[in-house]
Amino acid sequence: MVKTYSEHSNPNMRRPVVQQGIVEFMRQQDQALPTFLQDLQAFAATENIPIIPKETVAFFRFFLQVLAPQKILEVGTAIGFSALMMAEALPEAEIVTIDRNPEMIQLAKENFARFEEGKQIRLLEGEAQDILKDLKGHTFDFIFVDSAKSKYVVFLPDLLELLPKGGILIFDDVFQGGDIAKDSGEIRRGQRAIYRGLHKLFAAVDQHPDLMVSYLPLGDGLLMVKKEADSVEFLQENL
Ligand SMILES: C[S@@+](CC[C@H](N)C(=O)[O-])C[C@H]1O[C@@H](n2cnc3c(N)ncnc32)[C@H](O)[C@@H]1O
Repeated sequence: MVKTYSEHSNPNMRRPVVQQGIVEFMRQQDQALPTFLQDLQAFAATENIPIIPKETVAFFRFFLQVLAPQKILEVGTAIGFSALMMAEALPEAEIVTIDRNPEMIQLAKENFARFEEGKQIRLLEGEAQDILKDLKGHTFDFIFVDSAKSKYVVFLPDLLELLPKGGILIFDDVFQGGDIAKDSGEIRRGQRAIYRGLHKLFAAVDQHPDLMVSYLPLGDGLLMVKKEADSVEFLQENL
């Protein structure tokens, strides 16, 4: 069944992990985006579709222009806002983005056709778990994962195979509105699978000798992972 827009919304975005006043301050300071991206932000807000918040956008535009990746993979397209934002920031980059939701796919396709930056973007339709396996043999120097959070740890080995040594992987929304720092007994039923999945992800990457890790309190939290070896192995029980 196709999800309605409101089912897509992330209630944790209304529970900022840093002081609300600071979030608002950061959003006021941010440099203005091109009008077409502002229009997409306004559409997403009206339709209650979760896209990366303004402070994460500002970080991405800064970081990506420093990193200058040539090939980018995104998991979680929604209406195509973040893919178009990355394309606008990096006119030379090729972007592959994955989504499984027919309603979002339709909107993303329309947006990619409307704007010049869409020419840099290829949308792959389907379940990310399958598509990541199909992409085997390709490499991306930057990967952004913004999809169903309980699956992040399941995607991890395939994502790392798609990165070269030195490549960067960012997972979005890893703080569960602050619940992530609580004891498991305090987590409400509907959020427990995500909580467990995210903690497994942290356990897999945090002390790994071949990965460098950093957490950033932007939006609902970013986990940044840098691949520091040609190949990265995990014990199956850790995934
Ligand atoms: C938060 S939205 C992405 C927002 C987008 N990155 C942006 O900032 O503009 C998450 C999207 O991930 C997609 N998604 C979630 N789990 C997925 C999966 N396992 N495979 C493919 N797509 C998935 C959903 O359909 C939804 O459109």
